[in-house]
Amino acid sequence: MIKKIRKICCIGAGYVGGPTMSVIADRCPHLEVNVVDTNEERIKKWNSKDLTKLPIYEPGLEDVIERRRNKNLKFTSDVKENIANADMIFISVNTPTKSRGLGAGQASDLKWVDLCARQIAKYAKGETIVIEKSTLPVKTAQTINEILKSANTYEEGTNRSKRKFFILSNPEFLAEGTAISDLENPDRVLIGGEDPDAINALAEIYSYWVKKEKIITTDLWSSELSKLISNAFLAQRISSINSISALCEITGADIKDVSLAIGADKRIGKHFLKSGPGFGGSCFKKDILNLVYICNHYGLYEVSSYWQKVIEINEWQQKRISSLIVDKLFGTLFNKKISILGFSFKANTNDTRESPAINICNDLIEEGANLHIYDPKVNEKKIKEDLKNRVKSENINCFVETSINECINNSHAIVIVTEWDEFRNLDWKEIYAKMEKPAWVFDTRNITNSADVLDAGFKFWRTGRTYF
Ligand code: UDX
Ligand code: UDX
Repeated sequence: MIKKIRKICCIGAGYVGGPTMSVIADRCPHLEVNVVDTNEERIKKWNSKDLTKLPIYEPGLEDVIERRRNKNLKFTSDVKENIANADMIFISVNTPTKSRGLGAGQASDLKWVDLCARQIAKYAKGETIVIEKSTLPVKTAQTINEILKSANTYEEGTNRSKRKFFILSNPEFLAEGTAISDLENPDRVLIGGEDPDAINALAEIYSYWVKKEKIITTDLWSSELSKLISNAFLAQRISSINSISALCEITGADIKDVSLAIGADKRIGKHFLKSGPGFGGSCFKKDILNLVYICNHYGLYEVSSYWQKVIEINEWQQKRISSLIVDKLFGTLFNKKISILGFSFKANTNDTRESPAINICNDLIEEGANLHIYDPKVNEKKIKEDLKNRVKSENINCFVETSINECINNSHAIVIVTEWDEFRNLDWKEIYAKMEKPAWVFDTRNITNSADVLDAGFKFWRTGRTYF
């Protein structure tokens, strides 16, 4: 029988660890939740008095932090003490795609997970439930288990037989921008493991706010794989609809109507059918690459090339958009001012990881464009850093503005890359008056009112629809 859970430690105060632990602390005031991170700067930001300075932006997060911080929720860099005191430890560190060595460009880099397991092995005392929260390749639990069983303990002489580890997989399905509501009202909670008591201990925590029927329990491997496959299926829908958007543009159909019509079939469902500049974010590409790697490893080459295509279509869609912008602007962007509205990978987040904006901006800069970028939540430093890491040419002609107005003056074209609400209902007549002519709007997200844009005098393109 596992003892009652009182103290939780989460390693990794990122986009997943921070919000997840905040909601657990909020819904379970009887638990002590400590979030640790080796990045002291990040911890400082989590502790900042001014809640607008938290390291990540998520609607609703500030309220939860205000309610629980320094009550039963702490952010600290004291890894050792918090591991030692915890009954339950979540591993929520990043697992990026490997850039070097075996499986480079495809496999997940597990160096941080490995390090976490070693830290847990070193400092943990007594019985500890260790939970994989990060998305990990199938069978990672086995690796963690082996490290926990064999690594040296911190205090030599600690009685090994008194220490016991239980490993669970509890993948996160939250989407950025809606993380808090996804955590508060999840479609399901998935817990994979072998020990029924450990599974129950975690299920009990969730049962404070999630209905029993929504808590699915499986074996470890099914849980690990389900997370990977959920993301692969979601990404596949986006590539499917984006591939059809190109066909719509040629044939005169409208992708918005096609999405609506096919989504009305319950078997298909209406979600995740918006065509756009392709998927971004920290998970989709990384997880599919990982799936491709695993399939290749086991000799399932047809399966791996099937999933590889999902990524290829995503990259193709971004290139297709950049090329058509160049084409519509008479084949040259030299000395042309282009306004980029939105830089985050989707609305309501300040996250730019794998943002389609990075690739599209890169292509336009390489064509000689003079970019003026505005995003409501991504700051100048981040935008410049992302472009510096991506753009090859030395001359990055790019300015980051603090309002739409500053952005659009005298520009030749506006490209809407992120679907922020404030870009939906702009005064197109007023904007048109301030731009060079012919003035173009490229709406990659299909969020503008086409009639308004066209009435104002613009030349107009949006994903999946051609205005002949
Ligand atoms: C991460 C993974 O990328 C993803 O695969 C998984 O599904 C969820 O966890 P995210 O929370 O978005 O996603 O990552 P990130 O915002 O980079 O946060 C990870 C944090 O872990 C960073 O703050 C980093 O400093 C910290 N970390 C990393 C540690 O505290 N210790 C380590 O050894 C390594
Ligand atoms: C995703 C998964 O949804 C989540 O369950 C998992 O835990 C982490 O990865 P996230 O990356 O935060 O979450 O955002 P999501 O809303 O899934 O969007 C991913 C990308 O797909 C974004 O770039 C978004 O703009 C794009 N997208 C989404 C579309 O282009 N069309 C759609 O219809 C939906």
